[in-house]
Amino acid sequence: MHDDIKEILFPEEQIQARLAELGAQIAADYRGDHLVLMALLKGGVVFISDLMRQIPIKLDIDFIQPSSYGDETNSSGVVDIKMFPKIDFTGKRLLVLDDILDTGRTLKRVKGILEEKGATDIRTCVLLDKKARRVVEIEADYVGFHVDDFFVVGYGLDYADHYRNLPYIGVLNEACYSSAEETAGP
Ligand code: IMP
Ligand code: MG
Repeated sequence: MHDDIKEILFPEEQIQARLAELGAQIAADYRGDHLVLMALLKGGVVFISDLMRQIPIKLDIDFIQPSSYGDETNSSGVVDIKMFPKIDFTGKRLLVLDDILDTGRTLKRVKGILEEKGATDIRTCVLLDKKARRVVEIEADYVGFHVDDFFVVGYGLDYADHYRNLPYIGVLNEACYSSAEETAGP
């Protein structure tokens, strides 16, 4: 698996150091409030696992699973919700976590749906912000790192559902795209 990575953009230590900073900032901003960290499945799983341990205040965690119908590297713009959390939003402050903000369609849609369901205090936190690719208007309230327009994998981010378990974030060798597509079944 490691052989498939052309270049490491964010090593494990750099990610963990940044999460400690983000966690301290979030703890200061939400101290005394009922914070719910809500991660998008599946990409936000590694991020929420590490980030929550850097936020030393009482909090809940929850998950929401959007599905977007694109190819392996581009979202189509149509976003449905596959799994919605059973949650009473009264008195709760939501911080929605995702691995990466790309075109922005997914996070904007998820935010809209949570608002429709009654959430009034929603902020967003992404590990990576790929600003150059944005097509809808949305900015995250907390950003781990800015990244140029590369397709990246690792630390929750996938290509064809693989590579999420890499402890760092990197760029795939070009050869891996074609070989994965050739072997992908219906
Ligand atoms: P958006 O709706 O275009 O902002 O897409 C967001 C989703 O696309 C993220 O939750 C990721 O699952 C996926 N995505 C976008 N860019 C990348 C990338 O560079 N690597 C892996 N997944 C990505
Ligand atoms: Mg994905």
